[in-house]
Amino acid sequence: MAFETVGVVGLGTMGAGIAEVFARAGLRVIGVEADAEALARGRGHVERSTARAADRGKLTAGQRAEILGRITLTTSREDLREVDLVIEAIPEVLDHKVSLFQDLDRICKPETVLATNTSSLPVTAVAAATGRPGRVIGMHFFNPAPVMRLVEVVSTVVTAPGVTAEISELAGRLGKTAVSVGDRAGFVVNRLLLPYLNHAAVLLELGIATRDGIDDAMRLGVGLPMGPFALLDLIGLDTAYEVMEVLFDETRDRRHAPSPLLRELVTAGLLGRKSGHGFYGPQEPPKEPEKSTVITFAIDGPDVHGLGERLRAAGFRPSDDPDTVLHCTDRPVIEHAVRLSDPARLVGLHVVGDKVAELAGTALTSPRAAKAARDLMRVAGLTPVSCKDRAGFVTDALLFPYLNDAVRMYDSGYASMADIDAAMRLGCGYPAGPFEMLGYLGLAKVRDGLRALYAEYREPAFAPAPLLDQLVTAGVSEFPRS
Ligand code: 3HC
Repeated sequence: MAFETVGVVGLGTMGAGIAEVFARAGLRVIGVEADAEALARGRGHVERSTARAADRGKLTAGQRAEILGRITLTTSREDLREVDLVIEAIPEVLDHKVSLFQDLDRICKPETVLATNTSSLPVTAVAAATGRPGRVIGMHFFNPAPVMRLVEVVSTVVTAPGVTAEISELAGRLGKTAVSVGDRAGFVVNRLLLPYLNHAAVLLELGIATRDGIDDAMRLGVGLPMGPFALLDLIGLDTAYEVMEVLFDETRDRRHAPSPLLRELVTAGLLGRKSGHGFYGPQEPPKEPEKSTVITFAIDGPDVHGLGERLRAAGFRPSDDPDTVLHCTDRPVIEHAVRLSDPARLVGLHVVGDKVAELAGTALTSPRAAKAARDLMRVAGLTPVSCKDRAGFVTDALLFPYLNDAVRMYDSGYASMADIDAAMRLGCGYPAGPFEMLGYLGLAKVRDGLRALYAEYREPAFAPAPLLDQLVTAGVSEFPRS
């Protein structure tokens, strides 16, 4: 089928972005909103986004005018009679979606494909409510839609042969990569991403580290484009909350139950960028640099990161009476601390990537030693992230369960390793997919890290996936690719 004219229903952040994507690819777009006010907001989204591209020299004024000229806005669904495809991007309320699809089924010509951009609701339930279940499909875009290169194409058991391929081909015309998936809550990306974001909120509530510390650790240490709180603000805390509710309803996995902190922020109307305030406020005061004092240090145990050398090169000398004793490790350090004559001086040190130093303070670490450790890390050219002395500190506690979930997803037969990797790279801008990350981290390291997390938090889902455990037991260091 030749898709030339497309309807987009709902012009919030996602719908407006989707309309822009189609118009940029040369298709005509009819955007529908409930009332004139919502329509004006939708128009504003597209105008700002294309203006930004023009300012950056990515679009000429003429190209921008052409894109805007391809988009017609209306408050009447009846205007969608002749379109080839409709994408729905209204809020995640199943009853509203079902009633919209019944309406679209009545209005649109019989061959029109009706697609939902739902993040997690069952596409099958929407399809079954229409008289054309074979031509109803999921087409899941990622925020910001004009930038993220993935579309999850969600087929159901009643999708007509050929429709998935047609929609995947269309995604290609839009400059996106399609990953074809079945109808399970969260599909690939949200099923892996949302528990990680939720867990970050749990760590924040537990006081394991600060908002900025957690964001720095994941962005600078792991190399993700954004930390979890900046990303939650981008997605919208209400959207993230809704997706988690749906995930929890399907899985009853308590890691999918939205964290109390998220509920509180959503209830307070702090929804992230869309409301101007979420985890981050509109105008954050600039961070005051901490004042450095004269510092002496010692390294307890093997210096796996060569920090002693770096610090010596910067003019610092190891001392017998140090302000701070650094213990290089990826495990809690309290056992080491209590063996010292002065446990208050011990700080656990875990270097993540080449930019971040996680600094684990025990229940006995003194504020002076903790500060000295932070100062030393800055001297060594690393961003310090202070955290509590808990299994996995920040990065492993967030990364390893996500990798474990990916292994479980693959092992369940839901998606291939290549599709899971591509989905996370293209949908979330990750530098590598989970199986690629498992490859360079090493399976045994991740399995052992998960065991430590499980032992500490007693969270069933932190127990290593049986497939991961078996591969390590069999002495395999990487996931076998077929
Ligand atoms: N709309 C349009 N374009 C945008 C944009 C927006 N909201 N935000 C950024 N851009 C464009 C910029 O214009 C720029 O384009 P250019 O390279 O052609 O000049 C490009 O994106 C890079 O932008 P910046 O340089 O301003 O900023 P960054 O380099 O920091 O990138 C980012 C911003 C693309 C948002 C990047 O941080 C990123 O990839 N973040 C991860 C986003 C992510 O994970 N999305 C998926 C969320 S999950 C989801 O949506 C599913 C849902 O169901 C919940």
